[in-house]
Amino acid sequence: MNIRTRRLRGSGILRRMTRETRLSCDALVYPLFVREGKGISEELPSLPGQTRYSPDTLAKGIEAAVKSGVNSFLLFGLPQIKDEKGSGGYDETGVVQQALRNIRSAFGNDVYLITDVCLCEYTSHGHCGLIVNDKIDNDATLPLLSRIALSHIRCGSDMAAPSGMMDGTVKSIRAALDAEGFSDIPIMSYAAKYASVFYGPFREAADCAPQFGDRKTYQMDYHNGKEAVKRIKIDIEEGADIVIVKPALAYLDIISSVSKIFNAPVAAYSVSGEYAMIKAAAASGYIDEYGAMCESAVSVSRAGADILITYFAKELSAAIKKGDIG
Ligand code: PBG
Repeated sequence: MNIRTRRLRGSGILRRMTRETRLSCDALVYPLFVREGKGISEELPSLPGQTRYSPDTLAKGIEAAVKSGVNSFLLFGLPQIKDEKGSGGYDETGVVQQALRNIRSAFGNDVYLITDVCLCEYTSHGHCGLIVNDKIDNDATLPLLSRIALSHIRCGSDMAAPSGMMDGTVKSIRAALDAEGFSDIPIMSYAAKYASVFYGPFREAADCAPQFGDRKTYQMDYHNGKEAVKRIKIDIEEGADIVIVKPALAYLDIISSVSKIFNAPVAAYSVSGEYAMIKAAAASGYIDEYGAMCESAVSVSRAGADILITYFAKELSAAIKKGDIG
């Protein structure tokens, strides 16, 4: 008997009916940069098509995204002044704090605001931890990260996303939030964050490249996969509600195994370099931007990511609505 495999590609309707991978606009998180100042809305040279706002103009960026169907945001702050202790991060009048108050009062609960909790945007040396005797002091950093998280939550953030890869961060932030009556606030931890060149454009956008050394002492070596599983296990035990794998495209194997092993939702962060690479190749005429964007986003979702943090959030939302993906 001649058994033919019917490939379900006939009409567009059939193709969409039988898709194995479903992507929803609800799964998209859009990262936005806020810098100190007034009336600022500047395109980022390292991230073409992405804008850096001041706290008073950020609503414009949020509104455009909401119109396209994206309701969740990940905020990064750039303070005017950076110091050794990253004090701009937990200043009640700091740039993210101002932005949170403004957005919350303009949009109420129609938007979901997640804030990056790290020192590197606020320290003069650009490292994610406090420097003591020329070394990153993991434990001395923890109380500062808790202060940043608490201060964000008090100003209206819905979720803390610690990204500095200091050991014990989730436990320490969880305890601080619980002690202040914020036990309902979830933590999305950058649990498996690799030391990656793909963060290059972000470091320019957030002006946070390390001034000496690199981040290899606290971010993970890309040769290691099992280490990701180990770190995620620890973060979940410490109280992480959602775990991030970052970057996304070069780490699909990690996303795949993590999503099979753990029950927590997995977020994949498709980082600045992944975005910039598609943009640059498209600008040179080497690649179709829309196609590359759709194909890579679906691959991350197919690998097992529940949530996709991406600079293409608005465009992906439009593609989902059109039925091109999802
Ligand atoms: C802060 C942080 C970084 C990114 C997210 N949070 C930079 C880094 O670790 O160097 C990178 C995001 C991106 O590249 O889009 N620790």
